[in-house]
Amino acid sequence: MSEKLRVGILGGTGMVGQRFISLLENHPWFEVTVIAASPRSAGKRYEECVEGRWKMDTPIPAAVKDIVVKNVNEVEEVAKDVDFVFSAVDMTKEEIKKIEEEYAKTETPVVSNNSAHRWTKDVPMVVPEINPEHFEVIESQKKRLGTTRGFVAVKPNCSIQSYAPVLTAWKEFEPYEVVVSTYQAISGAGKTFKDWPEMNGNIIPFIGGEEEKSEKEPLRIWGKVVGDEIVPADSDEIKITSQCIRVPILNGHTATVFVKFRKQPTKEQLIEAMTSFSGLPQELELPSAPKQFIQYLEEDNRPQVQLDVNYENGMGISVGRLREDSVYDWKFVGLSHNTVRGAAGGAVLCAELLKAKGYITKK
Ligand SMILES: NC(=O)c1ccc[n+]([C@@H]2O[C@H](COP(=O)([O-])OP(=O)(O)OC[C@H]3O[C@@H](n4cnc5c(N)ncnc54)[C@H](OP(=O)(O)O)[C@@H]3O)[C@@H](O)[C@H]2O)c1
Repeated sequence: MSEKLRVGILGGTGMVGQRFISLLENHPWFEVTVIAASPRSAGKRYEECVEGRWKMDTPIPAAVKDIVVKNVNEVEEVAKDVDFVFSAVDMTKEEIKKIEEEYAKTETPVVSNNSAHRWTKDVPMVVPEINPEHFEVIESQKKRLGTTRGFVAVKPNCSIQSYAPVLTAWKEFEPYEVVVSTYQAISGAGKTFKDWPEMNGNIIPFIGGEEEKSEKEPLRIWGKVVGDEIVPADSDEIKITSQCIRVPILNGHTATVFVKFRKQPTKEQLIEAMTSFSGLPQELELPSAPKQFIQYLEEDNRPQVQLDVNYENGMGISVGRLREDSVYDWKFVGLSHNTVRGAAGGAVLCAELLKAKGYITKK
């Protein structure tokens, strides 16, 4: 029998689910053994389910083509053959909350891409380089759920990945006021230009719920475990305001960011702090960890989506145009891959760290 952990992908036929399946092809620790989706797909071969809607650049991995897709709602049936699951289903928030806890209660850890549990007090929301210590709250969650190995862990929203890691790297200079505008790719809505032709040559100045996530989720990531819950950082310490705009780009969220600091850094100090920033994934050499988490590009016309979105296989963040500002202290432009670092890749890195820390094991 394979030594790899057996993984189920909930919502495996969707945009993020497909990204999970592509990223896990030849993964050294994890092997996709179960795929689940809506009752519409259940009972069909995976290849048949995604025919005409495979959205990745690489072909469907041979190992999953013949997997017969299960119904996400048949929890016991899916859970019995896996060690843990990744969740990328598109249901209502309440339905997702409920079903992810149902999986956890079958003693199946859930690493979720969904926003449903991001504010559940004992559910860790983690960027592995930034707040791996939040996984400690899992013990409290297990007590609440009455489980021994089942729990839910989540990753944050894709929009924050282009600037929250940079602000974290600059913590010693105490950033306290941040203005962000995000320029977000259409794959963030699960779409390509084929299924969203109105986005050709267009900009839409609204993404439902995105500004609230962009402003609040970083505070939770910078929070602390206190007793049985995660308490977010104080908004008196650092405030973020944002505008989130949909732009005609397939993959890659760009952010333009203005920052005020309590302690004035030099440009060299800011560059040094971000390019030397690393965390547990780098120390433990996790399979999906970027060697360099944040790169700084000196050219005035970088980062560019076409040139830089796949930096470190889509797991790294590219920053450029760092310069002093006449109203704020400093400004910069950040770029990250929204369906890799911002979605499936970020969740895979969380699962790798959870395995390395002994939270996810063979059943
Ligand atoms: N796209 C991104 O970059 C991104 C980033 C962060 C978070 N998210 C979130 O991740 C989730 C998935 O996003 P996506 O873009 O991959 O969506 P998607 O392409 O629409 O895929 C949705 C998946 O959920 C399944 N599904 C839909 N309705 C269901 C139901 N009633 N019961 C069970 N399964 C159902 C679909 O199965 P069928 O194929 O059978 O319909 C499919 O597998 C969403 O909650 C989204 O908000 C997406």
